[in-house]
Amino acid sequence: MLIEVVQLGIVFSLLIVHNAIAAPESDLVNKLPGQTQTVSFKQYSGFITTDEGNGRALFYYFVEAQTNATSKPLALWLNGGPGCSSLGYGAFEENGPFRTNGNVLEKNKFSWNTETNMLYVESPIGVGFSYSNTSSDYNLFNDTLTAQDNLAFLLNWFKKFPEFRDVDFYITGESYGGHYIPQLATLVLDYNKKPNITPIKLKGLLMGNPYFDIEISINNGEFQWSHGLISDETYQLTQTVCNNSRLWVEEFITGGVSDACNNVFSKVDGEIGDVDVYDVTLGVCLGNESYDTQMSKLQKGYMRHWFNHILIIVVVIGQIQSKFVVKNVKKVDGINLCADDDTSSYLNKKEVQEALHASRSNGTYPWSFCSGRLAYDESNRGINIIPVLTELLNSGLPIMLFSGDQDAVVPFTATRTIANIVAKQSKLFTLIPYGTWYDSHQVAGWSQAYGHTVNGKNQTILTFATVRGAAHEVPYTSPSQALTLFRAFIGGLPLPIR
Ligand SMILES: *[C@@H]1O[C@H](CO)[C@@H](O)[C@H](O)[C@H]1NC(C)=O
Ligand SMILES: *[C@@H]1O[C@H](CO)[C@@H](O)[C@H](O)[C@H]1NC(C)=O
Ligand SMILES: *[C@@H]1O[C@H](CO)[C@@H](O)[C@H](O)[C@H]1NC(C)=O
Ligand SMILES: *[C@@H]1O[C@H](CO)[C@@H](O)[C@H](O)[C@H]1NC(C)=O
Ligand SMILES: *[C@@H]1O[C@H](CO)[C@@H](O)[C@H](O)[C@H]1NC(C)=O
Ligand SMILES: *[C@@H]1O[C@H](CO)[C@@H](O)[C@H](O)[C@H]1NC(C)=O
Ligand SMILES: *[C@@H]1O[C@H](CO)[C@@H](O)[C@H](O)[C@H]1NC(C)=O
Repeated sequence: MLIEVVQLGIVFSLLIVHNAIAAPESDLVNKLPGQTQTVSFKQYSGFITTDEGNGRALFYYFVEAQTNATSKPLALWLNGGPGCSSLGYGAFEENGPFRTNGNVLEKNKFSWNTETNMLYVESPIGVGFSYSNTSSDYNLFNDTLTAQDNLAFLLNWFKKFPEFRDVDFYITGESYGGHYIPQLATLVLDYNKKPNITPIKLKGLLMGNPYFDIEISINNGEFQWSHGLISDETYQLTQTVCNNSRLWVEEFITGGVSDACNNVFSKVDGEIGDVDVYDVTLGVCLGNESYDTQMSKLQKGYMRHWFNHILIIVVVIGQIQSKFVVKNVKKVDGINLCADDDTSSYLNKKEVQEALHASRSNGTYPWSFCSGRLAYDESNRGINIIPVLTELLNSGLPIMLFSGDQDAVVPFTATRTIANIVAKQSKLFTLIPYGTWYDSHQVAGWSQAYGHTVNGKNQTILTFATVRGAAHEVPYTSPSQALTLFRAFIGGLPLPIR
């Protein structure tokens, strides 16, 4: 009798444990502060341990699909940097369910959770709320460790959300995500080859304005010249004396910028002036001081940070501007030019951090877009991702590369060149020739699809698409076009024509 009672007890407690695992109530977000409308989908957030020994944990924000969540795919979104937040940029400024003015949340009708479940992860440690309990982890993090932690994150996240373990899975993101995403995908495919595991159903990669190769991706002189940002004379210097690729090699890999490069790039910086290089047509967030005062402040910050933080210059601009923000120059064509200030003030509120389960017992945790604490191994910017892409395509994994065509940092021309290179290396042929694609009956950009023949059938495996008028962060300036593109990719459909 006693034994039977004990067994019953075990069965009973197992059931409870199982329920607790399937629905992580402790991570459920009931309602976010400032959320005025009720929503049809569930939101979760919290920490997932990636390394028990060192005490590393990554912060995630998970937004279920608006309908039928457990029968929809799952998409992971990773922002770049290296070291910038997918919560701040991806979720709150790009393709998440809400936008904020700092206090109130407004629904984003172009949220990608209309199509899939969306998982935003602050990666690696030191970014946003993600942390390590071992301080030496912050001394030199790199691409290898990031990819390993991202895989550990996924496997442990799936344990908490087993109902999403078997849905189709996509990895998406932008910018330095061009390093994170293919490297994570490679680890996922390696994991899938192990015996006695349940494979992760990885179905594709989607990358926006991706940084793949130091020689091609950021060699942006011609784009800047053709968009009127630099003079003929300075353009010639970038072709003969020092181009941006060489500047980056000197700065991030060999160390020590030569006088030759310094001279060219102080001319480049001076001529480009106060334009946001991540979208050369977009205005910048202005405050209420006189225009000249603001611009002189902006200029100083811009010049000071140009060489060290080129990929995060928008953040720098945002931080400088936050000292003089005012309401009447905040929005242009519905785009919130001061989104960085607003998102940052929202995510730094104590009640928001509590609602997101991000708060420490110790009170408010200072949140910022890009990690100030983490020292990332900058030499990893020299890792060439092109061979990794080719290998992923050879394994049959579909990839879409898209490019906001107003980005003067990772210009679409560079990404188009790389698409052609990998298509050739993977022996793909053109299935849909270069031509326009549409959103709401307007030309949304240009695209080309490449494929191969599988069992006698033509199959698209690589798509390149520009997004006309869009920034480095495409879903920020062009949310409708971005959603159309995402929907087509997830559906395995060609981009719409008309
Ligand atoms: C880090 O340390 C804190 C305090 O001891 C602990 O509560 C937390 O669980 C640790 N995090 C990880 C990932 O081990
Ligand atoms: C939900 O999924 C089921 C099964 O795939 C389908 O029959 C149903 O129409 C879906 N409902 C919605 C609202 O999409
Ligand atoms: C990253 O750091 C680890 C540990 O020091 C090292 O084994 C690995 O080779 C590094 N990877 C890169 C790409 O630098
Ligand atoms: C950029 O500069 C490097 C080093 O001077 C050179 O090898 C490379 O060919 C240049 N690239 C282009 C596209 O001009
Ligand atoms: C500018 O904004 C600050 C802070 O909101 C305010 O204190 C100041 O009075 C404003 N200045 C002008 C000239 O409107
Ligand atoms: C509270 O948190 C801050 C920021 O993380 C940290 O600098 C400080 O040492 C903490 N204080 C205590 C008492 O833990
Ligand atoms: C596959 O595409 C190529 C190039 O467009 C075309 O020539 C060929 O007929 C197609 N094959 C099939 C089976 O559709």
